[in-house]
Amino acid sequence: MTKKRIFSGMQPTNNLHLGNYLGALKNWVDLQKQGDECIFCVVDLHAVTVPQEPDKLAQATREIAAAYIAAGIDPEKAIIFPQSAVAAHSQLMWLLATMSQMGKLERMTQFKDKAGKNTERVGLGLFAYPVLMAADILAYKATHVPVGEDQKQHLELAREIASTFNTRYKVEHFPQPEPQILGEATRVMSLKDGTKKMSKSDESDLSRINLTDDAEKIAAKIKRAQTDSAPLPISVEELKDRAGADNLVTIYASLMGRSKSDVLKEFGGQPWSVFKPELAEIAVRHLSPITERMSDLLAHPDKIDRILKDGAEQADIIARPILRETMDIMGFWRA
Ligand code: TYM
Repeated sequence: MTKKRIFSGMQPTNNLHLGNYLGALKNWVDLQKQGDECIFCVVDLHAVTVPQEPDKLAQATREIAAAYIAAGIDPEKAIIFPQSAVAAHSQLMWLLATMSQMGKLERMTQFKDKAGKNTERVGLGLFAYPVLMAADILAYKATHVPVGEDQKQHLELAREIASTFNTRYKVEHFPQPEPQILGEATRVMSLKDGTKKMSKSDESDLSRINLTDDAEKIAAKIKRAQTDSAPLPISVEELKDRAGADNLVTIYASLMGRSKSDVLKEFGGQPWSVFKPELAEIAVRHLSPITERMSDLLAHPDKIDRILKDGAEQADIIARPILRETMDIMGFWRA
Protein backbone atom coordinates (compact mmCIF):
# COMPACT_ATOMS: atom_id res chain seq x y z
CA MET A 1 0.00 0.00 0.00
CA THR A 2 1.31 3.49 -0.81
CA LYS A 3 1.92 5.82 2.09
CA LYS A 4 -0.72 8.47 2.71
CA ARG A 5 0.32 11.96 1.70
CA ILE A 6 -2.14 14.71 2.53
CA PHE A 7 -2.25 17.97 0.59
CA SER A 8 -4.60 20.92 0.84
CA GLY A 9 -4.65 24.69 0.57
CA MET A 10 -6.52 27.95 1.10
CA GLN A 11 -6.46 31.23 -0.76
CA PRO A 12 -5.01 34.30 0.91
CA THR A 13 -8.04 36.45 0.20
CA ASN A 14 -9.83 38.28 3.02
CA ASN A 15 -10.44 36.70 6.37
CA LEU A 16 -10.94 33.03 6.92
CA HIS A 17 -14.44 32.23 8.10
CA LEU A 18 -16.20 29.47 9.98
CA GLY A 19 -16.83 27.57 6.73
CA ASN A 20 -13.09 27.39 6.00
CA TYR A 21 -12.48 26.30 9.57
CA LEU A 22 -15.17 23.62 9.91
CA GLY A 23 -15.08 22.44 6.29
CA ALA A 24 -11.30 22.18 6.04
CA LEU A 25 -8.88 23.50 8.65
CA LYS A 26 -10.34 21.65 11.64
CA ASN A 27 -10.16 18.39 9.67
CA TRP A 28 -6.55 19.09 8.70
CA VAL A 29 -5.67 19.34 12.38
CA ASP A 30 -7.36 15.99 13.08
CA LEU A 31 -5.55 14.37 10.14
CA GLN A 32 -2.21 15.74 11.28
CA LYS A 33 -2.78 14.06 14.64
CA GLN A 34 -3.02 10.71 12.86
CA GLY A 35 0.65 11.06 11.94
CA ASP A 36 0.41 11.07 8.14
CA GLU A 37 2.61 13.27 6.02
CA CYS A 38 0.82 16.61 5.66
CA ILE A 39 1.48 19.45 3.23
CA PHE A 40 -0.56 22.64 3.63
CA CYS A 41 -0.16 25.35 1.06
CA VAL A 42 -1.23 29.01 0.98
CA VAL A 43 -2.43 29.21 -2.61
CA ASP A 44 -1.39 32.74 -3.54
CA LEU A 45 -1.22 31.94 -7.27
CA HIS A 46 -4.89 31.02 -7.13
CA ALA A 47 -5.65 34.28 -5.32
CA VAL A 48 -4.41 36.39 -8.26
CA THR A 49 -7.01 34.89 -10.59
CA VAL A 50 -8.92 37.95 -9.39
CA PRO A 51 -7.04 41.25 -8.92
CA GLN A 52 -5.18 41.54 -5.59
CA GLU A 53 -3.47 44.61 -4.17
CA PRO A 54 0.30 44.02 -4.44
CA ASP A 55 1.04 45.61 -1.07
CA LYS A 56 -1.40 43.31 0.70
CA LEU A 57 -0.77 39.89 -0.85
CA ALA A 58 2.34 38.91 1.13
CA GLN A 59 0.74 39.94 4.42
CA ALA A 60 -2.45 38.02 3.54
CA THR A 61 -0.24 34.98 2.92
CA ARG A 62 1.33 35.37 6.38
CA GLU A 63 -2.12 35.72 7.91
CA ILE A 64 -3.34 32.44 6.41
CA ALA A 65 -0.17 30.68 7.57
CA ALA A 66 -0.79 32.15 11.05
CA ALA A 67 -4.37 30.85 10.95
CA TYR A 68 -3.16 27.35 10.06
CA ILE A 69 -0.74 27.34 12.98
CA ALA A 70 -3.17 28.99 15.39
CA ALA A 71 -5.79 26.34 14.57
CA GLY A 72 -3.31 23.59 15.46
CA ILE A 73 -1.18 22.81 12.41
CA ASP A 74 2.30 22.18 13.76
CA PRO A 75 5.08 23.40 11.46
CA GLU A 76 7.35 20.77 13.03
CA LYS A 77 5.05 18.05 11.73
CA ALA A 78 3.47 19.53 8.61
CA ILE A 79 4.90 21.50 5.71
CA ILE A 80 3.40 25.00 5.46
CA PHE A 81 4.42 27.12 2.48
CA PRO A 82 3.28 29.63 -0.15
CA GLN A 83 2.41 28.13 -3.54
CA SER A 84 4.34 30.81 -5.46
CA ALA A 85 7.58 29.86 -3.67
CA VAL A 86 7.69 26.42 -5.32
CA ALA A 87 8.09 26.70 -9.08
CA ALA A 88 6.90 23.15 -9.76
CA HIS A 89 3.25 24.22 -9.30
CA SER A 90 3.25 26.58 -12.29
CA GLN A 91 5.48 24.36 -14.39
CA LEU A 92 3.43 21.23 -13.87
CA MET A 93 0.28 23.23 -14.48
CA TRP A 94 1.42 23.97 -18.03
CA LEU A 95 2.13 20.32 -18.72
CA LEU A 96 -1.27 19.31 -17.35
CA ALA A 97 -3.01 22.10 -19.26
CA THR A 98 -2.01 20.33 -22.45
CA MET A 99 -4.18 17.41 -21.40
CA SER A 100 -7.15 19.28 -19.91
CA GLN A 101 -10.31 19.75 -21.91
CA MET A 102 -11.87 23.19 -22.28
CA GLY A 103 -15.35 21.67 -22.21
CA LYS A 104 -14.72 20.18 -18.80
CA LEU A 105 -13.31 23.42 -17.43
CA GLU A 106 -16.36 25.28 -18.73
CA ARG A 107 -18.61 22.99 -16.73
CA MET A 108 -16.99 23.80 -13.37
CA THR A 109 -19.72 25.38 -11.23
CA GLN A 110 -17.27 27.63 -9.40
CA PHE A 111 -16.07 29.03 -12.73
CA LYS A 112 -19.65 29.56 -13.88
CA ASP A 113 -20.48 31.35 -10.62
CA LYS A 114 -17.41 33.56 -10.74
CA ALA A 115 -17.55 34.32 -14.45
CA GLY A 116 -21.28 35.01 -14.47
CA LYS A 117 -22.52 36.05 -17.90
CA ASN A 118 -19.24 37.71 -18.68
CA THR A 119 -17.41 34.67 -20.12
CA GLU A 120 -15.88 36.63 -23.03
CA ARG A 121 -13.92 38.94 -20.77
CA VAL A 122 -13.08 36.51 -18.00
CA GLY A 123 -9.35 35.90 -17.42
CA LEU A 124 -7.59 32.75 -18.55
CA GLY A 125 -6.37 32.24 -14.97
CA LEU A 126 -9.89 31.93 -13.62
CA PHE A 127 -10.74 29.46 -16.35
CA ALA A 128 -7.60 27.37 -15.83
CA TYR A 129 -7.85 27.57 -12.02
CA PRO A 130 -8.73 23.86 -11.56
CA VAL A 131 -5.71 22.81 -13.66
CA LEU A 132 -3.43 24.69 -11.26
CA MET A 133 -5.24 22.97 -8.41
CA ALA A 134 -4.59 19.58 -10.05
CA ALA A 135 -0.91 20.55 -10.39
CA ASP A 136 -0.78 21.50 -6.68
CA ILE A 137 -1.92 18.03 -5.72
CA LEU A 138 -0.10 15.98 -8.35
CA ALA A 139 3.22 17.81 -7.86
CA TYR A 140 3.42 15.89 -4.58
CA LYS A 141 1.68 12.73 -5.74
CA ALA A 142 -0.70 13.47 -2.86
CA THR A 143 -3.05 10.62 -2.04
CA HIS A 144 -5.61 12.47 0.12
CA VAL A 145 -7.06 15.96 -0.16
CA PRO A 146 -9.20 17.25 2.74
CA VAL A 147 -11.54 20.00 1.49
CA GLY A 148 -15.07 21.33 1.86
CA GLU A 149 -17.82 20.07 -0.40
CA ASP A 150 -17.47 23.02 -2.84
CA GLN A 151 -14.09 21.67 -4.03
CA LYS A 152 -15.38 18.21 -4.89
CA GLN A 153 -15.86 18.94 -8.59
CA HIS A 154 -12.34 20.37 -8.88
CA LEU A 155 -10.96 17.22 -7.31
CA GLU A 156 -12.86 15.02 -9.70
CA LEU A 157 -11.18 16.93 -12.50
CA ALA A 158 -7.76 16.47 -10.87
CA ARG A 159 -8.43 12.71 -10.80
CA GLU A 160 -9.38 12.76 -14.47
CA ILE A 161 -6.27 14.72 -15.43
CA ALA A 162 -4.12 12.22 -13.48
CA SER A 163 -5.66 9.30 -15.29
CA THR A 164 -5.46 11.03 -18.70
CA PHE A 165 -1.71 11.43 -18.13
CA ASN A 166 -1.27 7.82 -17.02
CA THR A 167 -3.29 6.50 -19.97
CA ARG A 168 -1.62 8.70 -22.56
CA TYR A 169 1.89 7.73 -21.48
CA LYS A 170 1.01 4.17 -20.43
CA VAL A 171 2.44 4.63 -16.93
CA GLU A 172 1.23 4.48 -13.35
CA HIS A 173 2.80 7.81 -12.55
CA PHE A 174 0.18 9.90 -10.75
CA PRO A 175 -1.97 8.33 -8.02
CA GLN A 176 -5.69 9.09 -7.91
CA PRO A 177 -6.08 11.69 -5.14
CA GLU A 178 -8.95 10.88 -2.77
CA PRO A 179 -11.16 13.78 -1.66
CA GLN A 180 -11.69 13.80 2.10
CA ILE A 181 -14.90 15.67 2.77
CA LEU A 182 -15.20 15.09 6.47
CA GLY A 183 -17.45 15.83 9.43
CA GLU A 184 -20.94 17.34 9.67
CA ALA A 185 -20.11 20.79 8.27
CA THR A 186 -18.92 20.04 4.75
CA ARG A 187 -20.87 23.02 3.45
CA VAL A 188 -21.46 25.78 5.98
CA MET A 189 -24.14 28.16 4.76
CA SER A 190 -24.57 31.93 5.01
CA LEU A 191 -26.06 33.08 8.32
CA LYS A 192 -28.36 35.38 6.37
CA ASP A 193 -29.53 32.89 3.78
CA GLY A 194 -29.33 29.19 4.51
CA THR A 195 -29.49 28.33 0.81
CA LYS A 196 -26.22 30.18 0.00
CA LYS A 197 -22.72 29.05 0.90
CA MET A 198 -20.88 31.00 3.62
CA SER A 199 -18.31 32.85 1.57
CA LYS A 200 -15.48 35.38 1.84
CA SER A 201 -16.92 37.25 -1.08
CA ASP A 202 -20.43 37.78 0.32
CA GLU A 203 -21.03 41.52 0.58
CA SER A 204 -22.63 41.23 4.00
CA ASP A 205 -20.29 40.62 6.91
CA LEU A 206 -23.32 39.40 8.88
CA SER A 207 -23.46 36.37 6.57
CA ARG A 208 -20.31 34.85 8.04
CA ILE A 209 -18.33 34.42 11.23
CA ASN A 210 -14.73 35.42 10.61
CA LEU A 211 -11.94 33.76 12.55
CA THR A 212 -10.96 37.27 13.67
CA ASP A 213 -14.41 38.25 15.04
CA ASP A 214 -14.51 38.96 18.76
CA ALA A 215 -16.96 37.35 21.20
CA GLU A 216 -19.45 40.20 20.97
CA LYS A 217 -19.53 40.13 17.18
CA ILE A 218 -19.94 36.35 17.07
CA ALA A 219 -22.85 36.50 19.53
CA ALA A 220 -24.51 39.35 17.60
CA LYS A 221 -24.20 37.54 14.27
CA ILE A 222 -25.62 34.29 15.66
CA LYS A 223 -28.46 36.18 17.31
CA ARG A 224 -29.41 37.69 13.96
CA ALA A 225 -28.85 34.45 12.00
CA GLN A 226 -31.73 33.29 9.83
CA THR A 227 -34.02 30.64 11.33
CA ASP A 228 -37.79 30.17 11.21
CA SER A 229 -40.53 30.49 13.76
CA ALA A 230 -40.80 26.78 14.61
CA PRO A 231 -38.71 25.44 17.50
CA LEU A 232 -35.81 23.05 16.90
CA PRO A 233 -37.08 19.72 15.55
CA ILE A 234 -36.45 16.40 17.22
CA SER A 235 -35.11 14.57 14.16
CA VAL A 236 -32.63 15.31 11.37
CA GLU A 237 -35.29 14.51 8.72
CA GLU A 238 -37.34 17.45 9.97
CA LEU A 239 -34.45 19.82 9.19
CA LYS A 240 -35.08 19.22 5.49
CA ASP A 241 -36.55 22.37 3.90
CA ARG A 242 -35.43 24.40 6.93
CA ALA A 243 -32.10 25.59 5.55
CA GLY A 244 -31.32 28.26 8.16
CA ALA A 245 -32.20 25.92 11.04
CA ASP A 246 -30.21 23.07 9.52
CA ASN A 247 -27.17 25.33 9.18
CA LEU A 248 -27.10 26.36 12.85
CA VAL A 249 -27.56 22.78 14.05
CA THR A 250 -24.79 21.67 11.67
CA ILE A 251 -22.41 24.33 12.98
CA TYR A 252 -23.14 23.36 16.57
CA ALA A 253 -22.65 19.65 15.84
CA SER A 254 -19.40 20.25 13.99
CA LEU A 255 -17.91 22.52 16.65
CA MET A 256 -18.72 19.97 19.33
CA GLY A 257 -17.66 16.95 17.26
CA ARG A 258 -21.15 15.48 17.70
CA SER A 259 -23.75 14.26 15.21
CA LYS A 260 -26.75 16.43 14.32
CA SER A 261 -29.14 13.80 15.64
CA ASP A 262 -27.33 13.83 18.95
CA VAL A 263 -27.62 17.63 19.13
CA LEU A 264 -31.34 17.42 18.36
CA LYS A 265 -31.79 14.86 21.11
CA GLU A 266 -30.61 17.55 23.49
CA PHE A 267 -32.28 20.61 21.95
CA GLY A 268 -35.30 19.22 20.03
CA GLY A 269 -38.46 21.16 20.93
CA GLN A 270 -36.54 24.12 22.38
CA PRO A 271 -36.92 27.64 20.99
CA TRP A 272 -34.10 29.40 19.13
CA SER A 273 -33.83 31.86 22.00
CA VAL A 274 -32.40 28.97 24.04
CA PHE A 275 -30.24 27.39 21.33
CA LYS A 276 -28.63 30.51 19.85
CA PRO A 277 -26.90 31.74 23.05
CA GLU A 278 -25.55 28.19 23.58
CA LEU A 279 -24.25 28.13 20.02
CA ALA A 280 -22.67 31.58 20.44
CA GLU A 281 -20.94 30.43 23.61
CA ILE A 282 -19.38 27.35 22.07
CA ALA A 283 -18.41 29.24 18.92
CA VAL A 284 -16.59 31.80 21.04
CA ARG A 285 -15.01 29.05 23.15
CA HIS A 286 -13.61 27.39 20.03
CA LEU A 287 -12.65 30.42 18.00
CA SER A 288 -11.31 32.94 20.51
CA PRO A 289 -8.17 30.93 21.42
CA ILE A 290 -7.44 30.64 17.68
CA THR A 291 -7.92 34.38 17.18
CA GLU A 292 -5.65 35.10 20.12
CA ARG A 293 -2.91 32.75 18.93
CA MET A 294 -3.20 34.25 15.47
CA SER A 295 -2.59 37.77 16.68
CA ASP A 296 0.33 36.61 18.86
CA LEU A 297 1.87 34.96 15.81
CA LEU A 298 1.29 37.98 13.61
CA ALA A 299 3.18 40.11 16.10
CA HIS A 300 6.30 38.20 14.94
CA PRO A 301 6.12 38.18 11.14
CA ASP A 302 9.78 37.15 10.95
CA LYS A 303 8.92 33.84 12.64
CA ILE A 304 6.10 33.18 10.17
CA ASP A 305 8.41 34.05 7.30
CA ARG A 306 10.95 31.54 8.56
CA ILE A 307 8.30 28.81 8.74
CA LEU A 308 7.14 29.63 5.20
CA LYS A 309 10.71 29.64 3.87
CA ASP A 310 11.56 26.30 5.53
CA GLY A 311 8.26 24.89 4.30
CA ALA A 312 8.96 26.03 0.74
CA GLU A 313 12.36 24.34 0.84
CA GLN A 314 10.88 21.08 2.05
CA ALA A 315 8.04 21.24 -0.48
CA ASP A 316 10.50 21.91 -3.29
CA ILE A 317 12.55 18.85 -2.33
CA ILE A 318 9.44 16.69 -2.86
CA ALA A 319 7.96 18.42 -5.91
CA ARG A 320 11.08 19.02 -8.02
CA PRO A 321 11.91 15.34 -8.72
CA ILE A 322 8.24 14.55 -9.40
CA LEU A 323 8.16 17.35 -11.96
CA ARG A 324 11.39 16.07 -13.53
CA GLU A 325 10.04 12.52 -13.65
CA THR A 326 6.88 13.84 -15.32
CA MET A 327 8.98 15.69 -17.92
CA ASP A 328 11.09 12.57 -18.53
CA ILE A 329 7.96 10.53 -19.17
CA MET A 330 6.84 13.18 -21.66
CA GLY A 331 10.21 13.03 -23.37
CA PHE A 332 11.64 16.48 -22.69
CA TRP A 333 15.33 17.17 -23.28
CA ARG A 334 17.64 16.90 -20.33
CA ALA A 335 21.38 17.37 -20.02
P1 TYM B 1 -10.84 28.31 -0.59
O1 TYM B 1 -9.69 29.18 -0.24
O2 TYM B 1 -12.03 28.91 -1.24
O3 TYM B 1 -11.36 27.57 0.70
C1 TYM B 1 -10.48 26.87 1.56
C2 TYM B 1 -11.17 25.62 2.09
O4 TYM B 1 -12.36 25.97 2.81
C3 TYM B 1 -13.45 25.20 2.30
N1 TYM B 1 -14.67 26.01 2.39
C4 TYM B 1 -15.81 25.61 2.99
N2 TYM B 1 -16.13 24.48 3.63
C5 TYM B 1 -17.38 24.38 4.15
N3 TYM B 1 -18.30 25.38 4.05
C6 TYM B 1 -18.02 26.54 3.41
N4 TYM B 1 -18.93 27.51 3.33
C7 TYM B 1 -16.72 26.69 2.83
N5 TYM B 1 -16.11 27.69 2.15
C8 TYM B 1 -14.85 27.25 1.88
C9 TYM B 1 -13.07 24.87 0.87
O5 TYM B 1 -13.77 23.74 0.41
C10 TYM B 1 -11.59 24.65 0.98
O6 TYM B 1 -11.32 23.31 1.40
N6 TYM B 1 -9.41 25.91 -4.69
C11 TYM B 1 -9.28 25.93 -3.27
C12 TYM B 1 -7.87 26.01 -2.77
C13 TYM B 1 -6.91 25.03 -3.39
C14 TYM B 1 -6.76 23.69 -3.05
C15 TYM B 1 -5.70 23.19 -3.88
C16 TYM B 1 -7.40 22.85 -2.13
C17 TYM B 1 -6.00 25.32 -4.36
N7 TYM B 1 -5.27 24.20 -4.65
C18 TYM B 1 -5.30 21.88 -3.80
C19 TYM B 1 -6.98 21.52 -2.08
C20 TYM B 1 -5.94 21.04 -2.91
C21 TYM B 1 -10.04 27.12 -2.74
O7 TYM B 1 -10.25 28.08 -3.41
O8 TYM B 1 -10.34 27.04 -1.44
